[in-house]
Amino acid sequence: MNQDIKQILLTEEQIQSKVRELAQQLSEEYAGKDPVFVGVLKGVVMFFSDVVRNVQIPCQLDFMWISSYGSGTTSGSMNVKKDVSADLKGRHVVILEDIYDTGNSLNFTYHHLLSKEPASLKICTLLDKPERRNPAVTLKPDYVGYVIPNEFVVGYGLDYNEHYRNLPYIGVLKPEVYQ
Ligand code: IMP
Ligand code: MG
Repeated sequence: MNQDIKQILLTEEQIQSKVRELAQQLSEEYAGKDPVFVGVLKGVVMFFSDVVRNVQIPCQLDFMWISSYGSGTTSGSMNVKKDVSADLKGRHVVILEDIYDTGNSLNFTYHHLLSKEPASLKICTLLDKPERRNPAVTLKPDYVGYVIPNEFVVGYGLDYNEHYRNLPYIGVLKPEVYQ
């Protein structure tokens, strides 16, 4: 285990078994719909590539990259660094995200993609940290991997200062690393 990790919250096996379960659900619910899976960079890279490799129906892949300015993370201070390249009008779109925390970034992404007039728009997030939710964000993710406690986690795409994304598991960072 990495020396900066206090505790492993989700093992590689737990993550992969949930990934297969979610991919199975998506394969069933989107059969015949040629969905577009939109990954929100960069945290989602591992989850995205694992989910889509387990999806067994024709589908299209796309990516968005958003950034937030300043210390506040209200939707107003976010902008699109990279937009999707596909035309989403009339398409069945599923947003894939690593974590639903305050909800501000997913809320921004959701409304940004909704403005492109998809036939349907759903949200699939690997992690949900409900304790930190911004009360103004009322979106409910349609597919959730794991609900986790209010701890700062890294690994499997999630970072602290751009590090730890390559860990194959999800762990709680030792507080002394960021204090
Ligand atoms: P939001 O607070 O729901 O808008 O999440 C914003 C972003 O913060 C997420 O997409 C993650 O990249 C990041 N984030 C939130 N919680 C964690 C965490 O526990 N570890 C690492 N990144 C996190
Ligand atoms: Mg993210």
